[in-house]
Amino acid sequence: MDKVLIGENIYWAGKIDDRDVPFHRLTLTKGTTYNSYLLKTLKPTIIDTVDMAFGKEFVDNLKNLIDLKEIQYIVINHTEPDHSGGLGSLAAQAKNAVIVCTEHAVEELKEMYKLHKREFLVVKDGDTLDIGGKTLRFIETPYLHTRETMITYCEEDKVLFPCDIFSTHVANYEYFNDEAKEDITEDFVTYYKLIMHPHRKYVQDMILKLKDLDIKVIAPSHGYILRKDVQSFIDMYDKMSKNTVLDKKAAIVYSSMTGNTKKIASALKGVMEEESITCELVDVNKTEKQEVFNAIKKADAVLFGTSTKYADMIGGLEEVLKELKTLNLDNKIVGAFGSYGWSGEGIEVTQDYLKESGARVLNTSDIIKGTGMTDVSFPLRIRFSPKEEDMESVGRAGVYVAELLLNDL
Ligand code: FEO
Repeated sequence: MDKVLIGENIYWAGKIDDRDVPFHRLTLTKGTTYNSYLLKTLKPTIIDTVDMAFGKEFVDNLKNLIDLKEIQYIVINHTEPDHSGGLGSLAAQAKNAVIVCTEHAVEELKEMYKLHKREFLVVKDGDTLDIGGKTLRFIETPYLHTRETMITYCEEDKVLFPCDIFSTHVANYEYFNDEAKEDITEDFVTYYKLIMHPHRKYVQDMILKLKDLDIKVIAPSHGYILRKDVQSFIDMYDKMSKNTVLDKKAAIVYSSMTGNTKKIASALKGVMEEESITCELVDVNKTEKQEVFNAIKKADAVLFGTSTKYADMIGGLEEVLKELKTLNLDNKIVGAFGSYGWSGEGIEVTQDYLKESGARVLNTSDIIKGTGMTDVSFPLRIRFSPKEEDMESVGRAGVYVAELLLNDL
């Protein structure tokens, strides 16, 4: 394996995969790389590993750089197996290493690699770790692009290890962007659009956190290591993740029995307004039917909420739903939500009406297939009064709808 130096005693230890690589239901025709890094300090540390197909090769190559028993820490920024896939093989031989990750990653890694008896160090946003001559700072970046993700910053060398973020899917044999044979901007943007853009609210959160860091090198886990014009790549993420389509409207049409569904409706409105979506809240039981229809017609997205009583929806919502087919909703996004106590049939019946409406109906299966996000659900079902974790689900659902509107997705 080539000895590629990223900073003082920081080595690339990854794998170049120049096959047609199957990935997220696509084929990466330019291949990709899985960049792992060895920080050869007094407490040697590995940051991320490689795809599980190359775990044994990764570990064998690493032995050319270090005696594996010397490794003290293995930092896992992101649990997807294209980066954590070498962990099982590595942990088996790097027996003294503590695994460093976020709280959400621990259970996943234990289950994926049978590491239930292994020592883990759980880190939080802003925590630092002395690895004997260098200091690592950890920055949580939830939902970029999965919940458990974080990025690692080496303070002395000013190197950022952001795993998937700032990556390119290219099997590059020139490791650094200033050595690339052609402009990498198109590959960089394509990667961003494919993996990061559906989560762009969180990209903005991450950019804010990066503002305090002096970053000389970005060493991501796919493709080129960025050491020339570094700020320009951060600026591209900033620009691409800002709202681009303005003047979008939503309506939230609901029928609430005890106030729980109304609470969800209000929370959805609040979240979408924070995302610059104009949002109208319509209680069908207090609004003339024609006014309800006017609100629906004006909106680009309409969410319909109902409580469930005696296994059915309540109040005047059904009278509205029955007529949706006549309103020409072809270009609108619609979704169902509601609070329930037992089975929540009213929400499902609402969803059935939406499927007949001619509009684009939000549903969990399409969200997973289209974005890989498993934490946004439609219909959005909340049992009894919304609790803190329920409100987080509501928030994610509202942000998701706002993102669809703002990006014309
Ligand atoms: Fe490159 Fe999310 O894995």
